[in-house]
This record gives sequence, C-alpha cells and structure tokens, in this order.
Amino acid sequence: MTTLVIGGAGYIGSHVVRLLLEQGERVIVVDDLSTGLRSRAEGAELLELDVTRPEAREVLAESLRSSGADSVIHFAAHKQVGESVENPEMYWHDNIGGLANVLSACASAEVRDVVFSSSAAVYGVPDVDLVTEDLTPRPINPYGATKYVGEWMLADAERAHGMRTVALRYFNVAGAGWPELADTAVMNLVPIVLDALEQGRAPVVFGDDYDTPDGTGIRDYVHVLDLAHAHLAALDYLRGEERPHRVFNVGTGEGSSVLEVIDAIARARGIEITPEIGARRPGDPARLICSGDRIAQTLGWKSEHGLDDIVRSAVEARAAALAPDADAYPEG
Ligand code: WQD
Repeated sequence: MTTLVIGGAGYIGSHVVRLLLEQGERVIVVDDLSTGLRSRAEGAELLELDVTRPEAREVLAESLRSSGADSVIHFAAHKQVGESVENPEMYWHDNIGGLANVLSACASAEVRDVVFSSSAAVYGVPDVDLVTEDLTPRPINPYGATKYVGEWMLADAERAHGMRTVALRYFNVAGAGWPELADTAVMNLVPIVLDALEQGRAPVVFGDDYDTPDGTGIRDYVHVLDLAHAHLAALDYLRGEERPHRVFNVGTGEGSSVLEVIDAIARARGIEITPEIGARRPGDPARLICSGDRIAQTLGWKSEHGLDDIVRSAVEARAAALAPDADAYPEG
C-alpha cells in the first residue's frame, strides 16, 4: 500500500512514517519543513510542499495519482493554543485551508481513505470526569475550533465524494518512540520541564488550586508510539467494510497531575525537582481525561505505555540529543 503522510517530518507524523515503513508500506512524506526535520523522513520519499499554498491542490493530486496512493494521513497544522488566540487568521488560513487543499486533491485523484489529526482541544473545558466522543465539542480557542471544523469537512467529503475518513482526537502526547524522533518543540509540559532543568531553572506549575487531589491540572498523557499505532489501526479500519464511527479519542483513560509528571521526570533523571507554583493559565481545564472505550472496542487499540515509560523515553531522547555526537570526531 502507498500512503501520503502530510506533516510526516513532524514529531507525531514521523513516528507513523517509521511504523508504516517497518510494515513494508511505500510512504511519501509531504512537508514544508517549516517545523519538520528532513532527517525524520529518512526511508520515505519526500515531497517538499506547503499544502496551504493555492498550487498545492494540483501538486498533491498529481502526487496521489502518479504514486497510486491508497490513503492520506494529515498532520500538518499549527497547534499552539496561545498563538491561535493571538493570530486566529493564521490558524483559519493554514489549518482549515491546508485541509481543504488536501481533501480537494483526494477527491480529484479519487483517493478515498483519510486519517485526520484532531485534538482533545475540540472539547474545550468539559464538565465531565471522563470525556467520551459523544460529548458535544465546545472548543474555546481558535486552534480547537479549526480541529472541529476539520472534522466537519471530513464529513462533507464523505457525503460529496464517498470518502472514508477517521478523525483521531489526541489527548496529551509525549515521549519518543525513537530518540531521534523526539519532540524538539518546547510547547508542552514534558519538554518544557526538561528544557527548564537543562537551563538550571525551576519548572513552573500553572496553578495548584484546582479541584484535584494535589491541586494541579490533570491530563491524559499518551505515548507518541502508542498514538502512532492508533493511526495504523485507523488505516486498517478504513480498509474494512463496517465503519460505524468516524471520530475516536486517543488517550490512556488514566489522568496524571502536573506534579505527578514532574515527580516522574525527577525519578527518571534521578534528581530532586522543586517547581515554582505560578498562576493558573487562562483556559486550562482542571482535568481532561479520555474514555478510550470506543477506540478499544472498534479499532482494538489500547495504549501500552504508562507515564513512567513516556517520561523515561523523553528523558533518554533528550540525553541522546545532548550527548557528544560520535560522528563529529574524525575516523581513526
Ligand atoms: C499540560 C498541563 C498545564 C506547562 C495542549 C493543547 C492540546 C494538545 C496537547 C494538540 C496543563 C500544565 C504546562 C508548564 C504547567 N495539543 N503546565 N506548566 O494545555 O493540556 O494541551 O497540548 O493537540 O490541544 O491544548 O498541554 O502541555 O500545555 O499542559 O503547569 O510550564 O501542564 O496547565 O495542566 P494542554 P500542556
């Protein structure tokens, strides 16, 4: 089979690319390398392209036709909540416009199967302990809104062109399946804490007065390798006959607080960490934990790694990235 992975040079996309290659699939990575790394696409063919550009529609359609691709996985999007609030235009134009180009190209090339990277951000601040896909999404920022609109676009493409689509609503992704594919962006809790430690700074906890056991925010952390496997399960599902659902939460069903994550990092690093307690971050829900029942029952997928595995893999990847590069020394 041949799959176009759009954003395949990114943190999550490159893990999916690696798994697809390992199972013998032909993979074409489409990426503008604005945040992705060329090295992450090793082993796949690379089409350097910004899918938000008007000309991308035809370039993508031609790539789909000439490669005989069976499916597309679409990752490429901006994903910073705060940035989306300050610059919603960029999120509308790139996140929604990019997906529009991709779906148009799929329709033109008659490629039916599309897996879309959605997000738990579509839920906003849910007032339930365990979030199921039946909960009505109420995104509270432009980033989450673009993901929810993306899900509507998939449904439109199904109705108009008989496409078969799956949206995966990621909860909090962290860790590294392979050290070289670690998350190099410092935008989420685990890399932010590791970055602070490297710079000799205390990590900052955004509020310890939430209605949670230790007062800090609780999230559902899922290993990026488990998440990557969920994409392969989604591809298999699309190639099957019975497809009762289009949207799946991807998480572990377990919640971890900010202090628990920091403690796990301290254990993995073998150090003591005394974080600073700062103010709450606007828009943060106290807890966001997913019910993984639908994906387990329908796709047969469950997470296999817990918080310690996630944190240990991130710490080891960071250490490997900081280790002296053996290749830097002359032969002999
Ligand atoms: C996690 C917890 C913070 C940094 C975001 C996106 C979501 C998804 C995952 C893409 C929260 C706390 C954080 C820090 C802290 N991304 N925190 N100090 O906000 O749950 O979700 O990433 O799909 O769409 O919204 O992730 O890693 O920013 O925060 O205390 O320096 O860590 O308050 O409780 P978040 P996060």
